[in-house]
Amino acid sequence: MRLLKRVAWWSAGAISLAFLAFLIAYWMSSNTCDERKAAAQGNLMKAVVYCDYGPPEVLKLEEIEKPTPADDEVLVRVRAASVNPLDWHYMRGSPYFMRLGAGLRKPKVIRLGVDYAGTVEAVGSKVTRFRPGDEVFGGRTGAFAQYVSVRESRAVAPKPPNVTFEQAASVPIAAITALQALRDQGKVQPGQKVLINGASGGVCSTRNVEMVRSLGADRVIDYTKEDFTKDAARYDVILDNVGNHGLLESLHVLNPKGKYVMVGGPKGTWIDPLPRAASALVLSRFVSQDVLMFVAKLNQADLTFLGNLMQAGKVKPVVERQYDLSQLREAIGYLEAGHARGKVVVTLE
Ligand SMILES: NC(=O)c1ccc[n+]([C@@H]2O[C@H](COP(=O)([O-])OP(=O)(O)OC[C@H]3O[C@@H](n4cnc5c(N)ncnc54)[C@H](OP(=O)(O)O)[C@@H]3O)[C@@H](O)[C@H]2O)c1
Repeated sequence: MRLLKRVAWWSAGAISLAFLAFLIAYWMSSNTCDERKAAAQGNLMKAVVYCDYGPPEVLKLEEIEKPTPADDEVLVRVRAASVNPLDWHYMRGSPYFMRLGAGLRKPKVIRLGVDYAGTVEAVGSKVTRFRPGDEVFGGRTGAFAQYVSVRESRAVAPKPPNVTFEQAASVPIAAITALQALRDQGKVQPGQKVLINGASGGVCSTRNVEMVRSLGADRVIDYTKEDFTKDAARYDVILDNVGNHGLLESLHVLNPKGKYVMVGGPKGTWIDPLPRAASALVLSRFVSQDVLMFVAKLNQADLTFLGNLMQAGKVKPVVERQYDLSQLREAIGYLEAGHARGKVVVTLE
């Protein structure tokens, strides 16, 4: 009995301490918003910054210090940048569990945007692969700005001449995710049947049926009229961008040796999609199919591969809407509503 009491006291003490530490970390959580104004002198550029989490109104277009490329970096003048769900997740700091890494009370990194396409303006002394004037595309935090500085070995690759800056900027995160999901996770083989749920990639609503067919889908399922989990068709790979069906329902239409790849999941304020990911992990132990989840990694090799596919006309970027950088709030708000048709891009002069 005495032992139990001791354990209870120690546990209560540990929990209180952890809670206190969390509160202190929460209130001390800060960012460089104040310093940026003092630093902004001389060589300036326009960039979108946000000092607090919140709705699109927290985004501000400001003049901040223009980056200077290090020896191994290229300075890219951004001509177009595309918007991804990741941008509004970071903007809102939602789901909250992501704030453990992104900053508890305020965003640690005050710049937003990843996907960009533009022109190399300057290169560091050790850069060998790029020269000023080269047209490139890739991914770099802070892409909603006039310039980004990128290590030449990281996510930067030549832009194919036959696509526009807007098209090239629409590719990195979305297409690398699709590529890695199908090639590395789904390990898709010729002749296999693949179902893509969401992102208007294979299952979509009525207004997107023709667009998806034009991109090469053999069969398009309008989710407002048909439920693919009730269908007779069976698949070798399911790539799920939405997570709006139960896992068991989805596995029901997957072949016994098939692969279910979870790319996106249900949206929620606190911890979604963690519960679905946890269920997938547990379920994967008891079913014959592979239940997989992954986070795409931007890299130069895959960007180059996708650049070649675009050049050959095999990947066709679909840009639905274009906004000016000054209209980023509208662009993010539109994407966040969840019904973009293809990609949403912001352009810069
Ligand atoms: N794991 C990773 O590394 C990774 C990387 C990138 C993205 N993601 C995640 O993948 C998901 C998709 O990203 P995205 O860039 O394609 O987002 P998005 O552009 O916002 O996707 C919007 C598309 O989803 C479709 N959609 C909405 N509800 C649907 C439903 N119930 N059934 C089928 N389709 C539906 C919409 O079509 P309608 O207008 O016809 O409804 C629209 O075309 C997001 O959750 C994102 O966070 C994950």
